[in-house]
Amino acid sequence: MQKTISPATAITGSISLPGDKSISHRYAMLAAIAEGETRISNYSSGADCHSTLGCVRALGIEVEGSGAEFVIHGRGLDGLQQPAAGLDAGNSGSTIRMLSGILAAQPFRSRISGDESLSRRPMQRIMKPLAQMGAQIQAREDRFPPLEITGGPLQPIEYELPVPSAQVKTCVLFAGLFAEGETVVLEPVRSRDHTEIALREFGADLNVHRGRITLQGRPKLTGCPLVVPSDLSSAAFFLAAALLVPGSRLSIRGVGLNPTRSALLDFLVGMGAKIRIPELQSVNGELSGEIEVECSQLRGGAISGPLTAALIDEIPVLAVLGAATEEGITVKDASELRIKETDRIQTVVRNLRLMGIQAEELPDGLVVPGRQKFHAASLDSFGDHRIAMAFAVAALRADGESVIRHAEAASVSFPEFWDTLAAIQSGT
Ligand code: S3P
Repeated sequence: MQKTISPATAITGSISLPGDKSISHRYAMLAAIAEGETRISNYSSGADCHSTLGCVRALGIEVEGSGAEFVIHGRGLDGLQQPAAGLDAGNSGSTIRMLSGILAAQPFRSRISGDESLSRRPMQRIMKPLAQMGAQIQAREDRFPPLEITGGPLQPIEYELPVPSAQVKTCVLFAGLFAEGETVVLEPVRSRDHTEIALREFGADLNVHRGRITLQGRPKLTGCPLVVPSDLSSAAFFLAAALLVPGSRLSIRGVGLNPTRSALLDFLVGMGAKIRIPELQSVNGELSGEIEVECSQLRGGAISGPLTAALIDEIPVLAVLGAATEEGITVKDASELRIKETDRIQTVVRNLRLMGIQAEELPDGLVVPGRQKFHAASLDSFGDHRIAMAFAVAALRADGESVIRHAEAASVSFPEFWDTLAAIQSGT
């Protein structure tokens, strides 16, 4: 599918967005191994989170519902059944990496695979700690999906994350649920903490102190009603659109504002963005609120170290925004971007250059000078949802109609993206 995007004269309105992808995955997986019913509202509509539901069903768990409302009938820590066929994680790194922690502890063999992009993404980062816990996992070329997992009893470990990754942290904690005793994860750089919050919601005994997460194994997890806040990483595209297009004023309701995710807002405000959050609320331990934003002249900025980890999913759209700032944007310490759904350093720089925007690729980041003009161009998502959406935003500021090829990729996290964009965009 290809989408034609016209330049916008303004981005205006009040919108709500689908549920957070990270939180939806965690709720579905934990609901499956909790006892009793978990009702999840505002579950992510993205294909990734539906891959997780498909895997959960294949493991013998009843999942009722449709749209954004699901009821998952959990069968407890020992209630999963051997799947009749291989599990399919689709495009979803979160599904394969986090679910592997659960599969490694089951008294059966399973096989989990994914699409072409996922089949190129590294799995040693979860295979190593799981092997230390006693798991038997085989991978293609020892590192890529499909994974063949021979489940069995696991021992607790103390594991220091070599890369800041919430997926790896979650995998180890999920495996730790099945191990007798105390599993410890040490996090030198803080990553999103939805797993820690969700585990407590389900009744696990978990302690977090200065980057040391301690989980007691074999807890009784109990199903509970859950509401997923809207996805801040999806909101990021509309925040950027409103900041970029003169005359814009937008409000986005019920967005997840967990402090381990909201560095985006601090970074934007630090560059001069006019952003307001009239009030905050807490639901199931997760903060959320309405975000109001209006077009603002941004100064530009530098992203490195722990800030890079905190902004990792937003860097494509921040790079786009950077070209319209006064001083540009520099990103460093971001080699993780090279192993996302695409090599995002390469795909961002390629599309920026196609728009006539000067951008420099660094081994671990990129440099986008400011005060640049956006020229209409024929662009590609390269099959990556965040690249599709980031460049739809760039196209709003262009001097003519742009085309995004493989625009369907947006559905991985946000199937309603194109309709929502059309609804808030006033055109020429
Ligand atoms: C995610 C963690 C991040 C992020 C991904 C979702 C999560 O990946 O990029 O989109 O839900 O835990 P890493 O754990 O690989 O950094």
